[in-house]
Amino acid sequence: LFHTPELTPTTSQPACAIVIDVLRATTTIASALQAGAEAVQAFSDLEKLMAISEQWPGEKRLRAGERGGQKVEGYDLGNSPLDCTPECVGGKRLFVSTTNGTRALQRVEMAPTVLTAALVNRQRVVNYLQSVQPETVWMVGSGWEGSFSLEDTVCAGAIAHQLSQVTQRPLMELAANDEVVAAVALFQQWHDRLVDLLHHASHGQRLLRLGNTADLEFCAQLDVLTVLPMQRERGVLVKS
Ligand code: MLT
Repeated sequence: LFHTPELTPTTSQPACAIVIDVLRATTTIASALQAGAEAVQAFSDLEKLMAISEQWPGEKRLRAGERGGQKVEGYDLGNSPLDCTPECVGGKRLFVSTTNGTRALQRVEMAPTVLTAALVNRQRVVNYLQSVQPETVWMVGSGWEGSFSLEDTVCAGAIAHQLSQVTQRPLMELAANDEVVAAVALFQQWHDRLVDLLHHASHGQRLLRLGNTADLEFCAQLDVLTVLPMQRERGVLVKS
């Protein structure tokens, strides 16, 4: 959590929630929208995903399901950002359910503005925060089944650190809480070894056991995508 008061008080917007799931949901969402997906519709529940996606024309939809790091049987895609090529996702709506990321999204879907962030689109998120200056920013790490996640915390730190740099405002002036200050310290510790960080992370190790080494390398890249996924209606993210 941090605040951006007095940057330009007259244009200040209300609260903004930023959902982070570096491994891999929010990296995949950014990749899909960058590759030309029409939208990404997120579900915590697989049955609901099936019911809603049934109403969508077959040639315009892809179902992406992940549980425990693995693709859900019968789905078109799992949760790998590397599958999100323009040929595969261009012009389609992705109906997505993942173990933690889509649940985190559901928890904050009533916030006035909902964004998703990952290391890959960190700078785009910072640009948005700098220009819009929401009064309060909530950064929500998806974690793993309710527990702390190293990579989501480092991404939150990367966002706060960069915002502080570009606005030339120390974290104290951004009224960052103790968690943000700790997250920034963690980012500073790891910023030039982000692939190593993902290899240390418990979910990174799970993905490595499942053979997803290339996914970790992709997810560790900083500022390589220019897309800002933003919620347009409940659960539906579009490119902004
Ligand atoms: C999740 O939502 O828990 C993840 O993105 C898991 C994964 O597919 O790596």
